[in-house]
Amino acid sequence: MIKVIAPAKINLFLDILGQLENGFHSLFMVMQSVDLCDEITVDKGNGGIALTCSDARLPQDGRNIAYKAAAAFFEATKIEPNAVITIEKKIPFEAGLAGGSADAAAVIVGLDCLYGTNLSVKAMCDIGLTVGSDVPFCIKGGTCIAQNRGEVLSEVKPLRDCFIVLAKPEKGVSTAAAFAAADNSYIYHPDSIRMLDACSNGDFDGICKYAGNVFEQVIEVVERVGIKEVMRNHGSVLYQMSGSGPTVFGIFNNIQDAETCADELKKEYKDVFVTRPVGHGAKVI
Ligand code: C5P
Repeated sequence: MIKVIAPAKINLFLDILGQLENGFHSLFMVMQSVDLCDEITVDKGNGGIALTCSDARLPQDGRNIAYKAAAAFFEATKIEPNAVITIEKKIPFEAGLAGGSADAAAVIVGLDCLYGTNLSVKAMCDIGLTVGSDVPFCIKGGTCIAQNRGEVLSEVKPLRDCFIVLAKPEKGVSTAAAFAAADNSYIYHPDSIRMLDACSNGDFDGICKYAGNVFEQVIEVVERVGIKEVMRNHGSVLYQMSGSGPTVFGIFNNIQDAETCADELKKEYKDVFVTRPVGHGAKVI
């Protein structure tokens, strides 16, 4: 049996540049893996793909993106499908944290190890992209610029150590609906050139200064203002929504501030976590 950890991601920067011919959007993002991880196991069974998930609200069949990832792995490698997959959910779903994509990434990395196929990261990312735009990043992980659909990845300097509080309001956001809302709105674009400079130089203050997420302009999450206020009051140096939301993250320089902020947010929100940046994606342990 192979055990894999699947880190969540946050978007330090997310801009929508336009629409691609395939209907997807062309993006410019800065992605960061954090140490809030789902735990996945993969093993051989009696043939076919079987999946169980600790959260009964998620589908446990072919509708689950992790199941689709297993099917895509077997199709690409021409191996007869045979996998028993378990998912221990820690990352909230419909949260803007790539929880589903992280599980899909973990399944591909886990099956590669289980079957000894020794695929390159690029080959695994190609399989991952067939099931979701964020899966390639969730395989690679760390700190990356992600372009096009999100699959064109360039490593930049790792974000220096810090404490990242995540707070997810109750109501999830559909990514498809978020993109549709963006299509129907005028968007002010954040400064990707300065952000890229800051990332390339490992300039933490610059990253905090030039961070941005255009989904904040088109997705209304009423709790966002209140969460940001709590984060600001506790000394957060950057507070912003992740992906298409609704999760808001706050970056802190010391753990005491992060923990007192999280304690305050926990009075109102169920899903609150204190995390740290990590330099890897889905990883066999
Ligand atoms: O690829 P994924 O399944 O994660 O995409 C979820 C939704 O977000 C889809 O509706 C897709 O059209 C949209 N999307 C997009 N452009 C991207 C990534 C996702 O329009 N680059």
